[in-house]
Amino acid sequence: MNTDLDIRALLQHSRGVITTLQQPNGAYPASPDFSAYRGYCWFRDGSFIADGISAAGEVASASAFFDWCTMVLLRHETQLEAVVAAARAGMPLPDEQMLPARFTFEGDFGADDWWDFQLDGYGTWLWAAASHVQRHGVDPASWRRAAELTVDYLISSWQRPCFDWWEEHDEHRHLSTLGCIAAGLRAAADGELVGADRAAKASVEADRILAFIESDGVSDGHVVKWIGTTAVDGSLSALIAPLGVIAPESDLAARTLDAVERDLCVDGGVHRFVDDTFFGGGRWPLLSCFLGLARVAQGDTTRARELLEWAASTAIDGGDLPEQVDGHLLYPERQAEWVERWGDVATPLLWSHAMLLRLAVELGLAAERDQIATEVTA
Ligand code: BGC
Repeated sequence: MNTDLDIRALLQHSRGVITTLQQPNGAYPASPDFSAYRGYCWFRDGSFIADGISAAGEVASASAFFDWCTMVLLRHETQLEAVVAAARAGMPLPDEQMLPARFTFEGDFGADDWWDFQLDGYGTWLWAAASHVQRHGVDPASWRRAAELTVDYLISSWQRPCFDWWEEHDEHRHLSTLGCIAAGLRAAADGELVGADRAAKASVEADRILAFIESDGVSDGHVVKWIGTTAVDGSLSALIAPLGVIAPESDLAARTLDAVERDLCVDGGVHRFVDDTFFGGGRWPLLSCFLGLARVAQGDTTRARELLEWAASTAIDGGDLPEQVDGHLLYPERQAEWVERWGDVATPLLWSHAMLLRLAVELGLAAERDQIATEVTA
């Protein structure tokens, strides 16, 4: 999978996987057939998928996802308002009454138990929607009420510990979660998603989160996985790019990415974190792409290209990309228990395809966003 031609074919395939599996109401399945994910759409995966496909010029697909987010949030408006009211009254609701990480395609909670209380996706959808508006000039008016509810929800609750990107450790406050929330509030503050009053409040709160990240979320010059540890997490690259929460030219970015490369990256493949036992703890192509995006932002396109090629090399016959691959498992003895429990690794994972596309656009390998946008509006 090393030639431009192969990568271009894989990018075309990625575009098709995302657009053909998207539901008529805009929901993106995380992975269509994987036992534990079937029938659900995550705010986290979906927002990054929408951002990837938006950058690749599929304007209608990304807009439809934000329509879906709006439908879901309005459907649960009473609960969102209850969370905000309780927090304002100094009596925050318990975790079980917070909004979940994933919903059925119809916008319901679903009947299966899950590690549901996660805040990151609520920031990520705001960030992705605002980026889409800016990139393609679409009108966000129909998303406004949902964006307002989300801003209030995040302002009321960002300080709470919750499950992280990997749906683990709800006793901690995670830096990638805080980064997604800060990016979402900053996007709401600077973009057209919400009115002036809320934008001003979002701006103040985004600054508070950034200050907190810098004061409490740094060890040895790099951002950490959660408040109180010295370890890193593969998700932290996203804070540099595409979320833009940490300036790519800063020492903080340099040291964070160097720590991710040193502790988690093997031959271009990035692990989630050193204690990862899920499916034995393999390397995730989507994390190689996040690292690649951060390297592009720093100006290192050579390293970014290597990371893209590694991610592309994980495609199976036919071009589908998995959630993770083995070859360098952190805990090989823990792989079988997951296969027994949930079946083979989720493939295709739409988020993997989206991140490959997103990095390819940044490297000028996928169709240019402006060119496609012109074609769409012409
Ligand atoms: C990952 C999550 C992801 C979900 C759906 C989980 O295994 O830890 O980050 O949102 O799968 O793709």
